[in-house]
Amino acid sequence: MYAQRVLSGMRPTGSLHLGHYHGVLKNWIDLQNQHPCLFFVADWHALTTTYDDPQGIVSATWDMVIDWLAAGVDPQRATLFIQSQVPEHAELHLLLSMLTPLSWLERVPTYKDQQEKLENKDLSTYGFLGYPLLQAADILIYRADQVPVGEDQVPHIEFSREIARRFNHLYGREADFEERAQLAISRLGAKNARIYEDCRKRFQQQGELAALERARDLLAGAASLSQSDRERLHGYLEGSGKTILVEPGALLTAASRMPGLDGQKMSKSYANTITLREDAVSVSQKVRRMPTDPARVRRNDVGNPEKCPVWQLHQVYSDADCQSWVQQGCRSAGIGCLECKQPVIDGILKEQAPMRERAQPYLDDPARVRSIIAEGNDKARHLAAETMHDVRSAMGLNYR
Ligand code: TRP
Ligand code: SF4
Repeated sequence: MYAQRVLSGMRPTGSLHLGHYHGVLKNWIDLQNQHPCLFFVADWHALTTTYDDPQGIVSATWDMVIDWLAAGVDPQRATLFIQSQVPEHAELHLLLSMLTPLSWLERVPTYKDQQEKLENKDLSTYGFLGYPLLQAADILIYRADQVPVGEDQVPHIEFSREIARRFNHLYGREADFEERAQLAISRLGAKNARIYEDCRKRFQQQGELAALERARDLLAGAASLSQSDRERLHGYLEGSGKTILVEPGALLTAASRMPGLDGQKMSKSYANTITLREDAVSVSQKVRRMPTDPARVRRNDVGNPEKCPVWQLHQVYSDADCQSWVQQGCRSAGIGCLECKQPVIDGILKEQAPMRERAQPYLDDPARVRSIIAEGNDKARHLAAETMHDVRSAMGLNYR
């Protein structure tokens, strides 16, 4: 199999917190070691809900990119870019809008949910309705195979698949498909071309699945093929037209159980967060002020860790020895709450230390962040341009 392309985006919400790290970024970091990855800042998506006060978007974007780098997202491995700096996303969004039934957008569950949740805002806008379509354009323009997202975003990935399918159905038949496919075959080299043709025949005439597999592997390994030739030959293999837009899969990120300072899930809207690069004094202050089992009024009152949000953090940050020290000490009033909190503070600071270290050079010299993003924007634009070329010609918009 050729390496599946992974893409994901995040709206610029400013400084990220430890919940983002445990829930999303760790996953990105795993993926970047296994796949070609594209990670981008969805600044246009942020605009769908902050259009009345967009001034913070740019600085939130830079802060967030520094957090990515701090967490260990590696620009040598993954391509990092900003959505609005690749205007092709907007072009694809527009072209897809021509074939997107309004009813498909209206029935995306996040539409009504979010509108009700943010009821103090007027979200009866065109941009907000089109949010999932812009997201579909983000994904389809890179022919992403896998999109790591949380559960709430799964309907958007499904929507993207439906749009890709509709597009391919409408435009997948190039007039000169046969010729282009033959030309692409000749680019495989004599030996592989022969194998491909043989497999294609065996699959189409005898339905041999092994032959289909073999040919797919061959295409996957054919480094000389452009992405569009590869798609063409995949389509030719199965006797269908060309797959112009690839249907993406959702790579479900396990829900983060990262607890916040009050025992609820860590989230900016609950004001219970610790940011990725929060300074040490503030971290220890916040943990020291955390509520504990209300039964422990005095030092010698016994407590129950199950009723204490600090225990939840021990489950993230402490080893088995420390955890049993907490269990026994709390239930016997053998330890005090401040004493109990110290290993949590130490654990958080230890986790943050390498992040702070990685962020420092970027804080000292913001030009380094700018140049990582400039390079990523270029790479992304290049990939997007390839897809747009195919999309335009499929839609009959090839002026040359
Ligand atoms: N809607 C996503 C979110 O809120 C952000 C996003 C925009 C995205 N475009 C994307 C995620 C493309 C994955 C792929 O989290
Ligand atoms: Fe919570 Fe620890 Fe205090 Fe028990 S000892 S109530 S677990 S902080």
